[in-house]
Amino acid sequence: MMSQSQNDSLTRVGPGTDAGDVLRRYWQPAALAEELNSKRPVVPVRLMGEDLVLFQDSEGKLGLIQRHCPHRGADMCYGRLEDNGLRCPFHGWHFNRDGQCVEQPAEPEGSHMHESIKARSYPVEERAGIVWAYMGPGDPPEFPAFDCFRAPDTHVFAFKGLWECNWLQGMEVGIDPAHASFLHRFLQDEDPADSYGKQFRDKAANTEIPMTKLLRDYPRPDISVDETDFGIKITALRHMEDGCVHVRITNQIFPEAICIPMSREMTITQWHVPIDDENCYWYSVFTSFNKPVDKTLMREQRLKEHRLPDYAPLKNKRNNYGYNPEEQESQTYTGMGLDINVHDQWAVESMGAIQDRTDEHLGKSDVAIIKYRRMLRAAIAALKEGREDDLPMQTIDPGKVFGPISIDAIAADGDIDAAYHQEDNARRDNCSWNASF
Ligand code: FES
Ligand SMILES: [Fe+2]
Repeated sequence: MMSQSQNDSLTRVGPGTDAGDVLRRYWQPAALAEELNSKRPVVPVRLMGEDLVLFQDSEGKLGLIQRHCPHRGADMCYGRLEDNGLRCPFHGWHFNRDGQCVEQPAEPEGSHMHESIKARSYPVEERAGIVWAYMGPGDPPEFPAFDCFRAPDTHVFAFKGLWECNWLQGMEVGIDPAHASFLHRFLQDEDPADSYGKQFRDKAANTEIPMTKLLRDYPRPDISVDETDFGIKITALRHMEDGCVHVRITNQIFPEAICIPMSREMTITQWHVPIDDENCYWYSVFTSFNKPVDKTLMREQRLKEHRLPDYAPLKNKRNNYGYNPEEQESQTYTGMGLDINVHDQWAVESMGAIQDRTDEHLGKSDVAIIKYRRMLRAAIAALKEGREDDLPMQTIDPGKVFGPISIDAIAADGDIDAAYHQEDNARRDNCSWNASF
């Protein structure tokens, strides 16, 4: 349990807030690159409580500037995309992609006023199908050499979805290995051959056991956490009847991402990005170590569950997430269908917009959540004391932050480390792009 002020400190993200200042020291997903695939590439972005507009100029370069015109506040999302910038339709003030005002056509001839007018703007870069923004002080950091950033475009696919709750709830469900045995329980197993693009539907590691059965049969994982250069490595062991141990390695990437195995072929790196205090987007990069990703199929699967342009899930609190009590009796633990994203969405949204952590009771299975909150608190304290270098990934060479290893394996002889490294090495050795480290 924590105090209300501690909960506020960890969850609020506007400019000048504790957690908001920490998050601003790292690249943040601002939009999917596909959102700019239109005749007029201008997209509203709300990120960490700030209203912005993302646009692509005629040279193909990206700009991210404040949404409300610095003149008298009109909405720049309706701006005229011209002359390598965005022009406000109200009085024609023109801004380049760095936010500098370069023209004020209604001001007297020869006026230099525009030189002192600058819209708030942030550096942006496209990587792995996502447009990233850096909203912190100084120069943006380099991108780490994570698999999702090293894999070629053919082997990554990005998508996003809206959750109507605080970002920390989203993050915490991703570092909670126990919930998969309950929230995502299927009372019947699908054919793992039909598992493409779906979480928990493959066979477990190199066994013939469907992952769904393994999760159902062994609901009490033995969870341990280790601090790493990038955040936290989470090891969940399920001790099986035959003496073998199922090992699942997942990761927390500081400050608000996770990296988990999706299938034997793919991993998911997922950021839980605050829109504001009470809404967030998950941004996932699916990275394939085997064949190129079937992006058409992956997109089709996900577009069936989401509406555009805001990527809001079709099942949501306004339609009870499709809850069906009969299905809950016979097919799924939740009664909310087979898409596990909906289960997670229900779990995190049903806590309330910002979970009341003054009234919770953490157990042993919440060990990763406890560890993560400690790290976030330490980062907040470090920033307040001017010790920026103490934040994760601030002083190490980002080009040397690899992986992270995210895999399921079976340890037949109890040697956990050997088992998952062997499985991970095999995957990297057979990879068509350079995944070695
Ligand atoms: S409000 Fe934008 S130019 Fe006047
Ligand atoms: Fe989940």
